[in-house]
Amino acid sequence: MSALDDAVAAIRQRRPKRVVAFTGAGVSAESGIPTFRGPGGLWQSFRPEDLATPEAFARDPDVVWQWYEWRRGLVRAAQPNAAHRAIARLPDAIVVTQNVDGLHTRGGSRDVIELHGSIFRVRCTREHTTRDAFEAFAEVPPRCECGALLRPDVVWFGEALPPDAWERATEAIRRADLLLVIGTSGVVYPAAGLVALSRGLSIEVNPEASGISSACTFAIPMTAAEATPRIVEELLR
Ligand code: OAD
Repeated sequence: MSALDDAVAAIRQRRPKRVVAFTGAGVSAESGIPTFRGPGGLWQSFRPEDLATPEAFARDPDVVWQWYEWRRGLVRAAQPNAAHRAIARLPDAIVVTQNVDGLHTRGGSRDVIELHGSIFRVRCTREHTTRDAFEAFAEVPPRCECGALLRPDVVWFGEALPPDAWERATEAIRRADLLLVIGTSGVVYPAAGLVALSRGLSIEVNPEASGISSACTFAIPMTAAEATPRIVEELLR
């Protein structure tokens, strides 16, 4: 039996009710969005400290915004894949994601906790107000009406996670009967630490072994779009 068969059998036996999907960049890989680590990952071509830190933004907002506009364009042109859509078929599932691409919501999930913010929201660096911003900006770096720079409303290295998102995520994972861990390398904390809070069944979907594979009950070495629909099918039976 494959790891997927074993995981499906465990679901059939335990009939988990409260399901949380904890996802990372790998869940969007089959939508054509590059991951951060591994072959073809963004951090092979770019240095995080040059692009994804408050210091980088203070030093050169133009460069940081050009990189975000490029990524925003990629995501706008992308579609949710079979994994996003399968998760969205679970009516009461809570999605806890490290992704900033909004593809879970576009795929139909209603309860999505974004731990690292969203690239389709911006924040005024002076007033700290946020607003949605889906379309490309006419000029970068974009500015608020007050004249101050706008920044992407995402969490950069060295910044704290939004406290309300963190609180909801920890609560949901502690209460879950089933935690699906999909497409994350499990090396970026504090998010990666959430898996240790799980007390129920936990199933990882990742073609590669990750930093948190050993913490999961089952590790399925398949892609998100291959394995997730089968898992969801069993949960819906
Ligand atoms: P990573 O790029 O670190 O890891 C992506 C994971 O997805 C890897 O373990 C891959 O093996 C796996 N993967 C690749 N293709 C897959 C597929 N088709 N199906 C399933 N899994 C696949 O991305 P994250 O773990 O999300 O943070 O990274 C965590 C955080 O680090 C990000 O949120 C971002 C980054 O720096 C910030 O920007 C704060």
